[in-house]
Amino acid sequence: MTTSESLAKKDLSHVNLATADLTGADLHKTSLRGATLKETNLEGADLTEADLSHANLAGASLHGATAAHTNVEDADLRDADLTGANLRGARLTGAKLYEDKGCIACHGPGGTGGANVPLFNPAKLDRIEAPKSIGNFWAQATTVFDMIRRAMPWTQPRTLSDQEVYDLTAYVLFLNKLIDEKDVINSETLPKVKMPNSGNFITRFPEHI
Ligand code: HEC
Repeated sequence: MTTSESLAKKDLSHVNLATADLTGADLHKTSLRGATLKETNLEGADLTEADLSHANLAGASLHGATAAHTNVEDADLRDADLTGANLRGARLTGAKLYEDKGCIACHGPGGTGGANVPLFNPAKLDRIEAPKSIGNFWAQATTVFDMIRRAMPWTQPRTLSDQEVYDLTAYVLFLNKLIDEKDVINSETLPKVKMPNSGNFITRFPEHI
């Protein structure tokens, strides 16, 4: 496999590329679904919009690679070197993280609640006693990111990577039917998510603003 060759938009699904040298390779929109990329050198490669779902990237080096909007769902990234890699918008399954990071233990399956508050509550905010939750009350989607980033998981706050926080935020917003399953949540798209109750807040002391 030579690096000068453009592999863009090729179907390399399930191909064994273990230990290959793909330094600087053009792999944008390439399907590498289920491919073996174990210890593969992908330094500086362009993986924009590539499909790396179910690929084995254990020990691979993605140093300086661009991977915006790449699908790395269920990929094995163990010990991969992701230094400097741009994984913005990469779709890691929030649902899987929700289980792996133990959110499910406190917030229940699908965020329906359990030991602690539900992250999805279909109740309407139509009376003073109505339970307030993310979908019916919160004014900004960015507050979900902030809450998870600062405080969750409750017993190990600040242990999640920024990407994991984005993916979990996406999952929580999806549970609340505020985004579609495939919507990518990142620093640009998150503030644009429309929260149903956002227009119902009033400024109590407008003269102080
Ligand atoms: C050990 C139990 C526990 C675990 C594990 C946990 N949480 Fe929480 N979570 C809580 C508690 C307690 C609160 C309420 C905190 C408060 O209101 O001050 C909360 C609140 C939240 C809220 C705000 C909900 C609301 O309506 O106020 C979000 C969002 C959230 N958790 C997401 C997560 C995510 C994502 C994970 C997994 C990474 C997670 N939590 C793991 C206990 C937990």
